[in-house]
Amino acid sequence: MSRPLHGGNLAWAATIAGCPEFLITDFSASINPLGPPKSAIAAIQSHLATLKHYPDPNYTQLRSVLAQEHHLSPDWIIPGNGVAELLTWAARDLAQKDMTCLLSPAFGDYTRALKAFNGEIQYYPLDIHQGNWEIKRQNLQQCGLLLNNPHNPTGHLFSLTQILPYLDFGLVVVDEAFMDFIPPPQQQSLIDRIQDYPNLIILRSLTKFYSLPGLRIGYAIAHPDVLKRWQQWRDPWPINSLADIVAQTVIQDREFQELTWKWLLPAKEKLFQDLSKIPNFQPILGKANYLLVKTSIPSSQLQKKLLIQNRILIRDCLSFAELGEDYFRIAIRSSEENERLFIALTEALN
Ligand SMILES: Cc1ncc(COP(=O)(O)O)c(C=O)c1O
Repeated sequence: MSRPLHGGNLAWAATIAGCPEFLITDFSASINPLGPPKSAIAAIQSHLATLKHYPDPNYTQLRSVLAQEHHLSPDWIIPGNGVAELLTWAARDLAQKDMTCLLSPAFGDYTRALKAFNGEIQYYPLDIHQGNWEIKRQNLQQCGLLLNNPHNPTGHLFSLTQILPYLDFGLVVVDEAFMDFIPPPQQQSLIDRIQDYPNLIILRSLTKFYSLPGLRIGYAIAHPDVLKRWQQWRDPWPINSLADIVAQTVIQDREFQELTWKWLLPAKEKLFQDLSKIPNFQPILGKANYLLVKTSIPSSQLQKKLLIQNRILIRDCLSFAELGEDYFRIAIRSSEENERLFIALTEALN
């Protein structure tokens, strides 16, 4: 089995650890350990009968709930089979431009989606530790820009002041898959500005915050003309009935949202402080639910040791060319699990 490009590949991890998948503690995929919310499970249980019918191809109810959440009209929102699906359509639009600018490192799926439509890509370096970047180009109308905020894998949150000057590009796609981990007053989302920019597309995922990677649900916010075009390109029912009802439910689950915001900050700071004490490691304190850590021990070596000795999976960064063996990424989990990881990492150095 070849080394995975994404986090969360438990089948691969289990072959290295020599144990069943369920015994692995997964720090490699940045998924909220408090979820899925009870409301999601209850919604699935009470809607099993909907499996007998095709979903509404317009997803009218779901779009209306999402629209209410974001104070928009439903025709500005389209749900998708995770951000991964919506990225494909965004990339089809971006590929019409002369080129698309990406920060580097970037989530690997951006390149996959752009290459699928023969899109030209130009990479611009992100200062991994400080989070600074700059993109200077001529003929902005002919260029696309694909940003990720907060940024994966560093966790840097770019401010609106930093991003707004770049909305002069012909097409701007902002992947806010991890934005909901930040309490609303501190979020730097562009959603409130969407109606001012017909050239802006915002992507949101329910995978990470609501711990639903297996359900596949996310949504795009953009000018209705863009979304109508995508609707004609894609298959008629990309979201299954259970994902549809769960999305409507969890997006309104205030209790779960509050619990998550309360858990994340102290848990992340504690793990950050602990790791900072180890001279081999230099963690970056980002705003999302993971930490990128610079390591003086090759990350693939650490990953293998932790899998075999502790059945813990961390994310090596070999799929990010700029990071290679010098970095690993870990999700923030419960206090007990974070402590287990910290002890395992300390032991792996001996
Ligand atoms: C930055 C980023 N965007 C999008 C995705 C995909 O999200 P989804 O599960 O909604 O397809 C990921 C998954 O790891 C991600 O890291």
